[in-house]
Amino acid sequence: MDDRPIGMFDSGFGGLTVARALIDLLPAENLVYLGDTGRYPYGPRSLTEVRDFAHEISRWLYEHHDVKMLIVACNTAAAAALTELQDGLPIPVVGVVEPGVRSVVRATASKRVGVIGTVGTIGSGAYQRAMADVAPDVELTCAACPGFVEFVERGETRSDQVHVLAERLLEPVRAAGVDALLLGCTHYPFLARTIADVMGRDVVLVSSADETAFEVRAMLDGTALARNPTTGEGTRTWFSSGDVDVFRELGGRLLGPELDSASAVRWPA
Ligand code: DGL
Repeated sequence: MDDRPIGMFDSGFGGLTVARALIDLLPAENLVYLGDTGRYPYGPRSLTEVRDFAHEISRWLYEHHDVKMLIVACNTAAAAALTELQDGLPIPVVGVVEPGVRSVVRATASKRVGVIGTVGTIGSGAYQRAMADVAPDVELTCAACPGFVEFVERGETRSDQVHVLAERLLEPVRAAGVDALLLGCTHYPFLARTIADVMGRDVVLVSSADETAFEVRAMLDGTALARNPTTGEGTRTWFSSGDVDVFRELGGRLLGPELDSASAVRWPA
């Protein structure tokens, strides 16, 4: 039985959607989360820069927090660096792209699906490749949604402005007549009400958070890497590279009571 924590990171608050699913599904596991709010958003940055951030954070989690597994809870970082991190770290590394694709393929009846994400994620082709691997018969329409992440990071998840932006950015996936839409950015579940309003009730919204947590559970279950569930609730430790007070306050609102304190990280750490 392994008491070492599971490490996870995102550019900011988005990965909290995955952390929520993980806490609910694996309450005994210890968790260390880093929100890189000092450098968000990742979406408009070059993949090379995001890859450097992903390496820096992963090394920090591994070397300073002795994590036993790493979850890249950010689509943009997973699109930029997942394979390299899997090759370079001596621990299992899980991303959010493949789990999301599996979920949306299960959800579609018409085999016409949409994926929305940051400019970096959509431009990387990661979803297009993953869909071609997992379900080549599914027709995929992708749309980048620049600006969505910034609304979430400001805590503005429902407003007329975000609705107007969503109407414009979701037009390509609406026009394609998809029956399932994958939220290919871990921030987007916080905008689910607005996105659902715009897409209409016939479109199922799919987030990768639950499927990622299920994948982690499948990897731990019955192995020496799992923490003994009878040892009680795990500890959760939260870090932010930006304003920690904002991280604790808004993070607590978005994730729930488990996020009640946060510590600062400054790069290079
Ligand atoms: N949550 C990140 C993702 O899934 C957001 C990236 C950003 O900071 O733009 O891509």
